[in-house]
Amino acid sequence: MHSEAKIVVLGSCSVDFTTYAPRLPQPGETLHGTKFTTSFGGKGANQCVAAAKLGGNVYMICKLGDDQWGKQYKEYLGEVGVDVTHVHIQPNVTTGIAQISVAENGENQIVIVPGANNHLNKDDVKKAVELIKHADIIIGQLETPFETTLEAFKLNNGLRLLNAAPAKEDIREILPYCSILCVNESEASILANINVNISNAGVALNNLLNTGCDTVIITLGSKGAVYATKQNKQPIHVLCESVTPVDTTGAGDAFVGALATFLMTHKDYPLHQIIGAACHVASISVTKEGTQTSYPKNFKGFGTEYTYVKL
Ligand code: RIB
Repeated sequence: MHSEAKIVVLGSCSVDFTTYAPRLPQPGETLHGTKFTTSFGGKGANQCVAAAKLGGNVYMICKLGDDQWGKQYKEYLGEVGVDVTHVHIQPNVTTGIAQISVAENGENQIVIVPGANNHLNKDDVKKAVELIKHADIIIGQLETPFETTLEAFKLNNGLRLLNAAPAKEDIREILPYCSILCVNESEASILANINVNISNAGVALNNLLNTGCDTVIITLGSKGAVYATKQNKQPIHVLCESVTPVDTTGAGDAFVGALATFLMTHKDYPLHQIIGAACHVASISVTKEGTQTSYPKNFKGFGTEYTYVKL
């Protein structure tokens, strides 16, 4: 389903250098890998491309380096249907990169070097001010400067979705501007000050709602997601069908991109169904290698009801 509603992603674009090996290496250990790939990634761009593939009307605001990757990445984003008016090439800087290791059980380890992503600043927000103000939904993450995302969230009049990844402690200032805060268990643990798991997820949701955001979603990998809203504090657990994971890299980004798209394309649906469909998209993505390459294009969800329980 296509929608004209504007989905704006302000965030990172990186090139992923990924090795596949039977398991993840221990500190100081050298392993023989089985495969190496180079692909387009970065949490912001992953979320943007996930949304574009699902029929979202997407705009990317980001910084790329003035190297071969920057030019190729901008061209590719245009080809997959992303509006690249605010995709800027930063002189004398390299494009952000991520060094990723993936094990046979699908688990990963990632080290990022932000490069041009660190140069996304308030001037870029100024240049895109009309787009940001009128975006139906704006998505931010934490791979680009925090103050830039904060500035954009203060300006926007639609839904503001923060994926607080990778985890960072000092982000309280932005939380009252978030319509939706979306985090995984480890990110939630840092923000809620408890070691979050399914058994205490209700407490964590409540702690996070008290920081000022309207809705909090904690993704739980193969266990689905839990959420609660300011209006209805009741924690809800949305379950996810189990799949055999091949590569979990970027599954959280698939979830965020899908969530934003379905909030626009399925406005009348209850939130637990929208979250169920976003979990479905994320679980499809883990059955394939890579990030953007693993996101579905012809998603046929919403046919059946997604299962949910009150916690
Ligand atoms: O969430 C997955 C992403 O994290 C990868 O694409 C990598 O670029 C890192 O930013």
